[in-house]
Amino acid sequence: MAEEQKSRGKLRLGVNIDHVATVRNARGSAYPDPLRAAKLAEEAGADGITAHLREDRRHISDADIEGLMDTLSLPLNFEMAATDEMQKIALRHKPHAVCIVPEKREERTTEGGLEVAREENRLAHFIAPLRDAGCRVSIFIAAEKRQIEAAHRIGAAVIELHTGAYCDAHAEGRIEERDAELERLREMSAFADDLGLEVHAGHGLTYDTVKPVAAFPELMELNIGHFLIGEAIFRGLKPSIAEMRRLMDEARGG
Ligand code: PXP
Repeated sequence: MAEEQKSRGKLRLGVNIDHVATVRNARGSAYPDPLRAAKLAEEAGADGITAHLREDRRHISDADIEGLMDTLSLPLNFEMAATDEMQKIALRHKPHAVCIVPEKREERTTEGGLEVAREENRLAHFIAPLRDAGCRVSIFIAAEKRQIEAAHRIGAAVIELHTGAYCDAHAEGRIEERDAELERLREMSAFADDLGLEVHAGHGLTYDTVKPVAAFPELMELNIGHFLIGEAIFRGLKPSIAEMRRLMDEARGG
């Protein structure tokens, strides 16, 4: 098993460019341009671009998604809520991957994972056309067995484990809780992999928190955004992404 895991290769980095659009939208200007950020991310070693088209369009816009689909050479991971409107948009663009996330209008960011276990039938029907259109369907969930099993039953190819609780505990100095969250993520990553699911993770990751997660042998991809866009203010976008890439490689012994 260990040998098989080692041969899985490099951990992919998906750069989430939502908050380039947040800064642009704060002034209603045309800049900074998320497409330009996507191109720089590619040059810095990103393996994919992630963008979340929210129902209220608070950051990424429909035009951004069109622009990304037209110009991007990296695969696009299109994050969206499980709504009819978003399903239509995804089916029109057919991005490489669609990540289904929970969405509440009043939240500042995606606060928890999707409740797959309680909505199994609806979600199974919802993702079927996306899968048939050739998109890799990923489900953003908490690191819980019942959610992972439900994601597997509805036919998702990928799960993305929510790392927010682990990162919050680290930021607030709750060390025991942080370590317990990390252990839970590690165990659930192995559990999902045993079921045949591809395992991704993300939310709230920083230079301080990325390495222990990146070290999980089953993990195939990390999606990271807010910290990188913030760090870009001080270092520039390409160096901030390159440093994250370096830490991820280091965690994998590379
Ligand atoms: N993965 C998913 C499914 C997300 O919803 C987000 C936030 O949009 C991220 C990863 C990236 O989180 P952050 O911006 O905190 O790095």
